[in-house]
Amino acid sequence: VTYGPANTGDEVLASVDVRGKVAVVTGASSGLGREVVRVLVACGADVLGTSRDPKAKIDGARLVRLDLASLDSVRDAALEFLTMTSQIDFLFNNAGVMATPQGRTVEGFELQMGTNHLGHFLLTALLTDAFREHSRIVNTTSLGHVITGMRWEDPHFRQQPYEKWQAYGQSKTANILFTRGLAKRGFLAFAVHPGAIDTGLTRHLEGDELVAMRQASESKAKTVQQGVATLVWAATAREVEAGAYLADCAEATPASHAVDPEEVARLWDWSQEQVGHWFGI
Ligand SMILES: NC(=O)c1ccc[n+]([C@@H]2O[C@H](COP(=O)([O-])OP(=O)(O)OC[C@H]3O[C@@H](n4cnc5c(N)ncnc54)[C@H](OP(=O)(O)O)[C@@H]3O)[C@@H](O)[C@H]2O)c1
Repeated sequence: VTYGPANTGDEVLASVDVRGKVAVVTGASSGLGREVVRVLVACGADVLGTSRDPKAKIDGARLVRLDLASLDSVRDAALEFLTMTSQIDFLFNNAGVMATPQGRTVEGFELQMGTNHLGHFLLTALLTDAFREHSRIVNTTSLGHVITGMRWEDPHFRQQPYEKWQAYGQSKTANILFTRGLAKRGFLAFAVHPGAIDTGLTRHLEGDELVAMRQASESKAKTVQQGVATLVWAATAREVEAGAYLADCAEATPASHAVDPEEVARLWDWSQEQVGHWFGI
């Protein structure tokens, strides 16, 4: 079966069996994460979803508190997942923030890099005992990765002035480099650009910027149901190769700065050093 930009997550999952499979979904309280949870639960999967809010309601899923902007919280959440299940079939590293005002995580990382990439890097590392040979890791990236490659001279904007789109683009490039690094180490990992979907992600944009963004994506805008199609396709499609960048339920070509093997290796080493956790050579 082939799918395209108009297909929904429900349609993609109609032809596969995920009953009893265990899925971890970060950012499950809203937007794409919430819809990934909904479609997986509807198909009989056992879903563990995360939110920073311990009182969040995630229908049909078990809730784990996770703040990716705190490595202590990431460690606590990883331990909790491992007490809840001995096997994870799908890990959706999906939570994210976009174009935030300048901010820092507990460890002092630039907020978008810390939340979108470094928190997920550590979470994934700490969950490896629960992965089996068939387990898949789906990292939600964005077309926004084209904005910039890694800014190695100052990744956390400690010397140079903060620019929110550079910071977002860099974090989404990191998602793709991380995916490649995982694939190189034998993990079935995929990076997905979900499309342009009106979610809470735009909460930090101001009037004109929001209008311009909506206009730019108008002709290609997807519903949230369509937005998750490539995410669940990445988790289940047989025909995709590990490490691939996917959009519209097909393999796509990311910017060269997001797949350069030297950048892949450098991002891996740097991420290990940043989070203080060894995740293999
Ligand atoms: N929407 C689009 O058009 C689009 C396009 C390309 C890529 N993406 C990507 O899609 C992913 C999901 O975004 P969305 O559109 O669904 O946005 P959203 O509705 O704002 O959802 C983002 C989720 O991330 C979680 N989150 C934010 N900061 C967090 C933190 N510090 N720790 C843990 N969780 C945190 C939020 O959960 P809590 O507040 O409950 O913690 C929320 O559930 C992101 O990675 C984004 O970059 C979206």
